[in-house]
Amino acid sequence: MKPETPKPIQLKNYSAPAYRIDTVDLDVSLHPTRTRVLATLKLRPSPDAAKPGGPLVLDGEMMELGSVALDGTVLEAGSYRVTADTLTLPRVPDRAFTLTTETFCNPDTNASLSGLYRSREIYTTQCEAEGFRRITYYLDRPDVLATFTTRIEADVESAPVLLGNGNLVKHGRAGRGRHFAIWHDPHPKPAYLFALVGGKLAAHRDTFTTMSGRKVDLAIYVEPGKEDRCGWAMDALKRSMKWDEERFGREYDLDVFNIVAVSDFNMGAMENKGLNIFNDRLVLANPQTATDANYADIERVIAHEYFHNWTGNRITCRDWFQLCLKEGLTVYRDQEFSADTRSRTVQRIHDVRQLKARQFPEDAGPLAHPVRPSSYIEINNFYTATVYEKGAELVRMIATLLGRETFRKGMDLYFERHDGEAATVEQFLQCFADVSGHDLKSFMNWYNQAGTPELVCALKYDSRAKTATLEVEQIHGASPGASKKSPVPIPIKIGLIGANGQELPLRLANGRELPDGVLEMTKRSEKWTFRDIPSRPVASLLRGFSAPVNLTMSTTDRQLEFLVTHDTDAFNRWQAAQDYAMRIMIAAVRALRKGQRPARPDGFVGALATLLNDTTLEPAYLAQVLAVPSESDVARVIGRDVDPALIHRARRWLRKAIGVQLGDRLVEIYESTVRIKTFKPDAKSAGERALRIAALSLLAARGNPDDIARAARHFREARNATDEIGALAILANLPGPERTEALDRFYKRWKDDHLVIRTWFGFQAAAPLSTTLRTVKQLTTHPLFSMRNPNSVYGLIGTFASSNPLQFNRPDGKGYDFVAARILELDKFNPQVAARLLGAFRSWRNLEIGRRRMALRSLQNIASTPGLSNDVQEIVSKILD
Ligand code: BES
Ligand code: ZN
Repeated sequence: MKPETPKPIQLKNYSAPAYRIDTVDLDVSLHPTRTRVLATLKLRPSPDAAKPGGPLVLDGEMMELGSVALDGTVLEAGSYRVTADTLTLPRVPDRAFTLTTETFCNPDTNASLSGLYRSREIYTTQCEAEGFRRITYYLDRPDVLATFTTRIEADVESAPVLLGNGNLVKHGRAGRGRHFAIWHDPHPKPAYLFALVGGKLAAHRDTFTTMSGRKVDLAIYVEPGKEDRCGWAMDALKRSMKWDEERFGREYDLDVFNIVAVSDFNMGAMENKGLNIFNDRLVLANPQTATDANYADIERVIAHEYFHNWTGNRITCRDWFQLCLKEGLTVYRDQEFSADTRSRTVQRIHDVRQLKARQFPEDAGPLAHPVRPSSYIEINNFYTATVYEKGAELVRMIATLLGRETFRKGMDLYFERHDGEAATVEQFLQCFADVSGHDLKSFMNWYNQAGTPELVCALKYDSRAKTATLEVEQIHGASPGASKKSPVPIPIKIGLIGANGQELPLRLANGRELPDGVLEMTKRSEKWTFRDIPSRPVASLLRGFSAPVNLTMSTTDRQLEFLVTHDTDAFNRWQAAQDYAMRIMIAAVRALRKGQRPARPDGFVGALATLLNDTTLEPAYLAQVLAVPSESDVARVIGRDVDPALIHRARRWLRKAIGVQLGDRLVEIYESTVRIKTFKPDAKSAGERALRIAALSLLAARGNPDDIARAARHFREARNATDEIGALAILANLPGPERTEALDRFYKRWKDDHLVIRTWFGFQAAAPLSTTLRTVKQLTTHPLFSMRNPNSVYGLIGTFASSNPLQFNRPDGKGYDFVAARILELDKFNPQVAARLLGAFRSWRNLEIGRRRMALRSLQNIASTPGLSNDVQEIVSKILD
């Protein structure tokens, strides 16, 4: 029998809570299998309740209830009701009252990593979105803000360090080998920001003096022995604190800021008030164990979680439908931080690549949903690329439309107006409308409509009138549950390039100049005429990817070549090179399908050569230019009847052609880049390493013995993780003795380091070899692999499902079978991770018929399994819908 699908929660049914909680006193006595929680809540009827009075319904699950007391009187069992996920008191006073509950939970058996659990002997919590209800009975919703005081008690021996939110008030001995610490957080907060930690931990300490001169104690807690790997994270934290003061005027508001790194964590990191908890992969770094990409991720995530202190904690979300209010905005802020810290153009390229790789396919498939969804079954399924990355793009568009200064004024007003509140997207937008006078009503369409709009553009030139007219139409395809859509306001940043490469002034027919080159499109179709254009220009459209849309414009190869070599906007030069590579790969797929040989890509390679010889371009940028679109990118653009094997061949062919035709120049780049002796993680040094490895990789794609030997030498002589892992990535994809030797050597060197060894699992899972599936199956029984550890699962199974399109999509369907079986296995104890892995199937309908049938079989297998979690149930039914 199929269990009933749970009822979705609807945005339109939101109503304010009937009760408020002013203070929470928690007394948590930590024990590995039976932790006791005594909670004292001061409640009162809510003055702004939609339906005042009535029963008090508290959320709670996976707990054992000891006792319940109202205003100090223990209640008889008959005077309350307990279900699997609620505690109901039918009658409570219509004035302020105190509720005390005693509950027990089991951290050791909690493998879902939500609520209170233990990770390598460390007690830790994860409460977003709905984990607090696994710690105590509560009104577990973001619009209930309370002041928390937490007493934590544990064995001195096994948990000498006890951490909570806010400031440490008191600590001491509690007898029988136990001790306690009391933490008080003066800032009212929703329960999802609650955290506590207990364990054997070592601290890396520092201080930060805020702009008003307050001293803040900073500490990063890690497993003892790893303190020396915290330097970079600490440095990133201090720079983030400074940046938020300078760029947004935001100062930190507690005397301490603690970060704890744990090994078992479902997500990347969590912004609990004053006590951020991190997946250790996003904290620990030294030159031997962390690549430049790891360093950049750490910097970014440290910044992101810190920035939440204002965008998320001080101003939180009214309900989970408003998730983008904190996540989209905070991603925008961390992207801006990275852009200010590193190279703005290279950062934008990186962010746009991610958006297109992660969000565009989501928005084009069965899991598409608006940035602000209107219904959900399991909120954990909505921490998506759409909410995060498209959410960030929407904020960026507001900044582009209003200009930097007015945008800042809007942010200031938002902080001033809503500090201490649980807000909505409408309230956020209202702040920008108020400071700018700009009508942002239709902007809500961006938040409420799923799907990537298509922008169809044409440029007409009138040689007699010397005018150029840009005609643009926005097209909105259907999304699940939404066929009719309204137009959205679109900032289109443009440039017109004259015949000899000069940027032409943008003067509209009415004489108005467009100084920053931004057109605002508001209607379904619009045109703009520019005057004083001496000869037919080439249009450079959507500069800096000024809106998250798919741009279509018919361009000739010559025009693309011209843009690659002449566009004055560096982002769009890169974009043109990507578009050109994409066009060539798609043509190659078509040729290969007919059994023909693809045409030589001379024009494209020539344009690349010009870029490589441009000494004004930084190495990090050139590395991005040399990275042609991925196989998944090509599959996304082809869109239907996708044959991953043909795409793999086409991309290999193009990379080989680049390697062969630009060989001498690539060798020169590889040889000439300075080999810096002491490793520095800054963006400039990282860019030099990236360019060198990009050259090495394209040379290896030629496949000459010399090229492979060069990569093997690079691996052996590497003195930092970036070079070692960069070369291993190349070797791991080439069958042969060099591959085996490199993987063995790497394993021996790193088997005791669980973070580094994950890359070893990952490379074997990503290899486009026919033996890969067998290897991956074997690796699931390796002693260093664990289904209980999300990093381990993502590193092996996630990499296979999402980064190996060739082998995951094996025509015999065995890749699908394997991943589906692992999803079912995981779903029994960690539904969040299971549901995330399932996302790898979301584009199954785009596959050619044979693979589509195979994928369907695996999906139906999942769907018909009894006892699925809500998480997996929701995703699988949408994917099959
Ligand atoms: N608030 C989230 C963490 C989170 C997400 C907790 C979902 C519970 C459920 C945090 O701020 C976050 O967004 N983390 C990201 C990294 C960030 C840099 C985008 C993550 O964990 O992937
Ligand atoms: Zn976040």
